Amino acid sequence: MINLKNDLQLAKMRSAGHLLYDVLRRTKEIIAPGITTMDINRFVDEQIRKGRAIPTELGYCGYPASICASIDDEVVHGIPSKHVRLEEGSIISIDVTLALDGWQADSCFSSGVGKISEEKEKLMRVTEECFWLGAKQALDGNRIGDVSHAVQQHAESHGYGVVRDLTGHGIGQEMHEDPSVPNFGEPGRGVRIRRGMTFCVEPMIAMGRWQVHQLADGWTIVTNDHSPAAHYEHTIAVTNGLPEILTFPDFQWNSIPKGVNFI
Ligand code: MF3
Ligand code: CO
Ligand code: CO
Repeated sequence: MINLKNDLQLAKMRSAGHLLYDVLRRTKEIIAPGITTMDINRFVDEQIRKGRAIPTELGYCGYPASICASIDDEVVHGIPSKHVRLEEGSIISIDVTLALDGWQADSCFSSGVGKISEEKEKLMRVTEECFWLGAKQALDGNRIGDVSHAVQQHAESHGYGVVRDLTGHGIGQEMHEDPSVPNFGEPGRGVRIRRGMTFCVEPMIAMGRWQVHQLADGWTIVTNDHSPAAHYEHTIAVTNGLPEILTFPDFQWNSIPKGVNFI
């Protein structure tokens, strides 16, 4: 069942999104070689609680931390650890969900650690572009397949693999609501998009092939070919015009940022 949001509910989701934006912006500044993924987890957890919100990944289906921190061939759901230190040249994806006053916001960015290769820079840039191209299709009257296809088409035009096992999703008082928002699909197919819908678009893109598997920790998803992956996510709201990016306050569609690391 799809929960359409009224203006009051959207205002609450906007507040949650704004807080998450602030948290991720600060988090980006602490990423450097030598810190551990547990250091990042602690920082994010503190920031969320200072904002009077709750880190909703913690305890979600038994998930043991407040962030997902996925490095290189880890696509998503990497569990923070005090034994994992960031190394120059890696890609790290930090995916965070919080709830403020009962309303969820979910966003992820990928970042290079120190100096990274041109090909990894390109993977991150194209993954962000996939997000913007997909999100731009979130128009009243379109279908989810329009979003999915835009993401897939752009990633595959660069020879990248679109991870199929995980998808974007509706969001509201729950982290995961209907509809599912796959990163691959056919234009004009799937659920019709309506004003008041809120969902997460989250391309998960591998430099190599798309097949993935889960590690024995029961969470971490890695590429089968061990090619590096990038992940980029925002929570968006469908309006009567272009979608509002709830986790990117004041974003204007006529100024789509070029390149990576702009939040
Ligand atoms: N933030 C994730 C998403 O984009 C969910 C994380 S799974 C959890 O849907 F277990 F870490 F919560
Ligand atoms: Co997320
Ligand atoms: Co999500």
